[in-house]
This record gives sequence, C-alpha cells and structure tokens, in this order.
Amino acid sequence: MCGIVGYAGAPDLDASALDVILDGLRRMEYRGYDSAGVALLTPEGLVARKRSGKLARLLQSLHDDPLPRSNTGIGHTRWATHGAPTDANAHPHLAAAGRIALVHNGIIENFAALRAQLRDEAGIEFVSETDTEVAAHLLAQAHAACGDLSRAMQDVARRLEGAFTLLAVHADVPDTVVGARRNSPLVVGLGEGANFLGSDVAAFIGHTRRAVELGQDQVVTITPSTVTITDFHGNTAPGREYAVDWDAAAAEKGGFPNFMAKEINEQPRAVADTLRGRTDGEGHLTLDELRIDESVLRGINKIVVVACGTAAYAGMVAKYAIEHWCRIPVEVELAHEFRYRDPVVDSRTLVVAISQSGETMDTIMAVRHAREQGSRVIAICNTRGSTIPRESDAALYTHAGPEIAVASTKAFLAQITACYLLGLYLAQLRGNKYHDEIAAILADLRTMPGAIQKVLEGLEQVRTMARWMADTRSVLFLGRHVGFPVAMEGALKLKELAYIHAEGFAAGELKHGPIALIEPGQPVFVIVPSPRGKDSLHNKVVSSIQEINARGARTIVIAEDGDDEVLPFASEVIRIPQVPTLMAPLVSVVPLQVFACELATAKGLDVDQPRNLAKSVTVE
Ligand code: F6R
Repeated sequence: MCGIVGYAGAPDLDASALDVILDGLRRMEYRGYDSAGVALLTPEGLVARKRSGKLARLLQSLHDDPLPRSNTGIGHTRWATHGAPTDANAHPHLAAAGRIALVHNGIIENFAALRAQLRDEAGIEFVSETDTEVAAHLLAQAHAACGDLSRAMQDVARRLEGAFTLLAVHADVPDTVVGARRNSPLVVGLGEGANFLGSDVAAFIGHTRRAVELGQDQVVTITPSTVTITDFHGNTAPGREYAVDWDAAAAEKGGFPNFMAKEINEQPRAVADTLRGRTDGEGHLTLDELRIDESVLRGINKIVVVACGTAAYAGMVAKYAIEHWCRIPVEVELAHEFRYRDPVVDSRTLVVAISQSGETMDTIMAVRHAREQGSRVIAICNTRGSTIPRESDAALYTHAGPEIAVASTKAFLAQITACYLLGLYLAQLRGNKYHDEIAAILADLRTMPGAIQKVLEGLEQVRTMARWMADTRSVLFLGRHVGFPVAMEGALKLKELAYIHAEGFAAGELKHGPIALIEPGQPVFVIVPSPRGKDSLHNKVVSSIQEINARGARTIVIAEDGDDEVLPFASEVIRIPQVPTLMAPLVSVVPLQVFACELATAKGLDVDQPRNLAKSVTVE
C-alpha cells in the first residue's frame, strides 16, 4: 500500500531525478493508485507536484507545466487510508514553509494526538486530512532544533507509533534523501554515482540490481556517493547487501496487453523455477533454507497455515497434500483471524506463513503472535528480504519473479508448489514416505510446467465465453477436495477484477443451502475431479452438475481430457490435461484466471489495477 521512491544522483549524470522517480513510480503503481506526487531539490529550491488519480494525471500535468531539472527527489503513489484521494491529501506533504517534503507508506496510529499538539502548541494549520502531514511538521520542528536532517528523522521516528516508511528531502540539504522504516518496507539500491530508495527493488531495477535490505526501526540517508544506516537513536546499523536475481525486463509487460496476462503466461516457469535445485545428487529433497533443527521438525504435532486471500487458498490446497503425505493435522487460518482468537499453538506447532509480498500486515502480526507462543514459523514468500521471511525462523522462497498485477496468479501456483516441497520434505524427514515414493511425486511435480503450458495454449474457448458473458451479474464456482479452494480462488479473481458477484462453494455443500441461488441461466463453473482417483469424488460432483443442470443453470465444466461422463449435463466443457489428483489445482485454476482477466477486459476495466485494491496490504 503506497509506493515510494527516492533518488540522489551526482549532478553530472545524464539521468534527471524526475525521470528516475517517475520510472520508479510507474513500477510502484501496483501498490496504490489513488494519487501520485513528486518533490525535487532544484537550484530554484524545493518544488513539488501532486495529482489525485492514477500516475497518468501527474504525468500529464508535468508535461503541460514542466518542473526544473534536478538530481535529487522523492515520489509517491498512494493507496488512501486517512483522507479521500484528493490533490490535497496526495503526497508529498510540505512543511517548513515549503522547504521540507515528505512521503509516507503505512499508518501513523498516534497521529491525532500529535496533530492536536502541533496545532495547539505550534499553531500549525493542516492542509490535508492525512496522518502523514504530522510527520512532515514534526520533521521541520526537529530539523529546526538540531540542524541535521538524519538526526531529525530519528527524532520523528521515535515519536511515531504504527507502521511507516518515510522519505524526506530538505531544500537546505542538497543531494540528500533521508528515510525511516518501521513495519513497512524500504530497500536501498546502490548505483554508480547514484543511490536509490524504494518500497521494493522494482523501484530502481532499471538502474541497478545491487540492493541493501534494511532492518526494523532503521533510518537511512543517501547521497550520490554514500549510504548511511542507523537505528532510531543514531547508532550505526548494518544493512545486508544482496543481488536482485531478476532484471528490468521481468517488470515490463513484454508485449502482453497487461501484467496479469503476462503473469498468467509465466506460470509454467514460476512452477519450474520454484522446483529447481531442491534435490541432491541422490534425489533427496534438500531445502537448505529451512534452518530449523530437524529434531524440532520431527517433533511437531500440528501445522497451522496463516495467510490471506489467494495465499490462504494456496494453503487450503496444501492442507490436502500435507495431511495425506505426512499424517500431521493441518489447519488453515486467515491471518487476521488467527491472532485475535487466542489460537492453540505451542512449541510443537509449525506455523507456515504464506505471502507473495512478505509485507501483508495481517500475516506479519500472525507470525509475531505465533513466535510469541513458542511456535516455529516457516515463511513461504516471493519477495526476498521482506518482513515476513525476515521475522520467521526460516524461509522457503517461491521463485515466481516479480508479480506486478494486483490480482495474484503465478504466485498462487508457486505457493502451492513450495508448500508441496515442504510437505514432501517433512514426509522425508519424519519417514512417512519412502524415498522412491517422494521421488515419484517430485517427478509428477516436474511434469506440471508442461501441463500448465498445455492449458495456456488451449484457452480460446474460455476467452470467447468471457467476452460473451461481459454482462453477467453473478457467477458461482463449485469444487470438491482440492477443487474447493480452486473454486474460491476463481470467485475471488472474478470479484476483484470484474466487480461481479461471485462465490465459491464446496460442491457437497450445495444441497445444504446454496442450491436455492440456482435459477435459469445462472452460470456455474464446476471443477470436476479426475474419474481416475482411487476413492473418486467424480461421481458425486457429476451428480451435483446434474442437480444444478436440472434447475436450469448454465454449467461450465472444467474436466480432464477423456472425461465424457460430464458431457450430457454441461453447457460448456473446458478441458485440462490428466494429472495426479493433488496436482490438479495447478492446471484447473488457469482457465478461471483467464476467464476473469478476459471478462474484466471486455468490460473495459483495468485488470492490473482494480478499484479500491493494492498489491501489498500493509495495514491491518
Ligand atoms: C488476490 C490477492 C490477495 C493476496 C492477499 C495476500 O488476487 O492478490 O488476496 O493474495 O492480499 O497477499 P500476500 O500474498 O502478499 O500476503
């Protein structure tokens, strides 16, 4: 939520700060798009421009009325929390009679008290409704008192409660951007004659792949040639440098109409890359990142998955596999519910936190709560150096590459894959499965990128259907076993992208109530399990299709190649390849993603930036 960019470059470099910052904001826009703004240090002093709405509005304004050239500045793209998405509430916020500009990501929880104090004691008149403006004025006061921008930022950070990343520039401190972070992301980019700050590495990936991970409660000051990191008390603090393993091209659309279409298409690779390099010469799983003592993992008696949204559905899929392979009970809990219901977790509970961004505040809080109870936490995460893996006991990274579209697609498949690796690793460690059984499942997993590719190549029918259905007002999704979370994921994609009422049900639940929703013409997607399964649920799901078909529903059936039993009751059949039961979600979800993407596009909606949403939900 909110994307921020900072840049300090040597004056003799060709790049202008504005171009670098706007390029970064373009890549950060997935984090929020309610407004955008920049502030630059120029020979004429500090200049700022901000506009409500998407970045394009700011770009238009800068085109119509250009700002002077600059080599230092900050930028922001907003997901509104305090105050409507107006020009006045857009960042940067100014203080010290326009000599300080500040941008913020997060929520300052004690802003109301600080605002009253600044108004009553210093007579400050606020021009926005945001929590952020308080930080700008506090910085101005602190700087006036100590004359040092970094120290002033430390003072301010100590006074704020909640979650924040702040970046600021001061007209009297040339070539310098100062930042602070608590519970919100901030990474440093190290360039040649220039340094960068960003909410994530995508902000500067076009310029450098050398990044520095900041810790909790740190202040960073960049100039074109220096990076100084301290804690909130001014003590020197370490930063960990790492190389970003993807490049600028990965954060571009690459010829696709939108990021979501590109990311759907990248799913075979996301699965393959997540599987890569995780076995030794003898085929044993070696999850080197799992730095948790093997005896602890052998001793666990329960697994609790904590996650939100799509990541939670990945956890629900994984539950079926892990329980089946390891015979350990697995609970899947929405992270925001977990902490507040006094869950029964202890040192023998393994908590698995799944998160694409690694910055979802609900999941961070669940991780902290679990660790306080003595549980070990393994993060399954797509973003290196983010808060969730950093605060967990161990991390298993998904290698899906940057996911920029707000709706999660390739991360979902990579999360399921990583969970399966974890399940197999536990089965190996605890002796639940023989080596050759694990090798056989791994071999099946390695065929999945090919199977997903096959689905991707045969989706014209789904696209055509989605375009015809652009006026549809409600769609239901049914599934059973691993198809149930897939049904919910299909419904979530349609809600968030196309703003259509959609619900996913367990097919067996239909007769207990939801069947009352069926009326003539109601579109219902049904994910049909393989008829080859041992204790096949296939027949039961076919019965469900018959029941809704008899009541006039339009049944859109996702069934594997060769399953002809569904034909008499299906209005449409979407084919997926034959794969083992537990692998089926990796293929059956793909048509649902494409359906939602295509239908939203047919409605003229922006699939990469659906209304009211942001990619990283960094507030509770
Ligand atoms: C849906 C979607 C969200 C996220 C959820 C968790 O398409 O993207 O439901 O899955 O907000 O986000 P992460 O995985 O970053 O913790």
